[in-house]
Amino acid sequence: MQQLIERLYEDHKHLSRVINCLQKEMYGFSGGPDAPDMSVILDAMDYIRNYPDAFHHPLEDRIYAQMESRISDTELLQMLQRIELQHHQLHALSTRLQNDFHAIANDQAMPVERLLNDFQAYHELIAEHMKCENRYLIPAIEQYLQPEELEAIREELDARPDPMFGGQLLAQYEGLYKYLIESEQAA
Ligand SMILES: [Fe+2]
Ligand SMILES: [Fe+2]
Repeated sequence: MQQLIERLYEDHKHLSRVINCLQKEMYGFSGGPDAPDMSVILDAMDYIRNYPDAFHHPLEDRIYAQMESRISDTELLQMLQRIELQHHQLHALSTRLQNDFHAIANDQAMPVERLLNDFQAYHELIAEHMKCENRYLIPAIEQYLQPEELEAIREELDARPDPMFGGQLLAQYEGLYKYLIESEQAA
């Protein structure tokens, strides 16, 4: 139990750190003194698409599906349905944002207003989403999941470590990780 709960909280903290990097680089598009570092931005988006979008949120959806029929608290059910809907919205927003950044990296025309709006939309939703999950989804998991279900999820978690923060840093994220640590130390 504790391992699953801690992993979800830790994943949220790690994603927040990556989004902070993106936010810092976004100043370069809105009049900040430094040009945005496109390799940091593209790697951050790649991480978001590769781990939170591809594994963390889908895992939360499967956990919710497992426990949904046991929950009679309608307010809690509404919040969990909202979280599930946010997963679809986040997927659409991060896809769009990644496409925006790829267009810029390939010197295609991209209105800066659109880019700033797309980033803001993703940023606001992911912040709200993680707050909702910490407050409603994770406590519900602690309350409604059976030990054998937790064991099955633990095996899934062991098989899919976070590619940047999970103990073995994937080579493709080495630059991003170094940037992240240095920018946090400088703050
Ligand atoms: Fe989450
Ligand atoms: Fe989520």
